[in-house]
Amino acid sequence: MNVMTKNWIEIGTIGDIPLRGARHVHSGDKTIAIFRNAHNKIFALEDKCPHGGCPISNGIVHDSSVTCPIHNWVISLETGQALGADEGQILAFPVQIDGDKILLSLGVK
Ligand code: FES
Repeated sequence: MNVMTKNWIEIGTIGDIPLRGARHVHSGDKTIAIFRNAHNKIFALEDKCPHGGCPISNGIVHDSSVTCPIHNWVISLETGQALGADEGQILAFPVQIDGDKILLSLGVK
């Protein structure tokens, strides 16, 4: 991926996101959840559960998924797709790491 064509925005460092946790950033009317899993991989999703719309950044991060704390839907951190029997999807955004900096692109994956 080319840094210039994706309009990457520096949003902080890996250390700003707790291990197996999340923070969120705002862009216009969008809130974007930034997740860090146990392997220090960073993901960005629209901060809105595809089931009821609650902030998915409050969920439980495991492997490459997050479980919503409200009704336990499991969402892929890679794609924003609901997993298992549930159906729904939220936007997933590209992220890349430059040293310890997190770069986010608002172009949807
Ligand atoms: S609001 Fe997330 S599973 Fe229902």
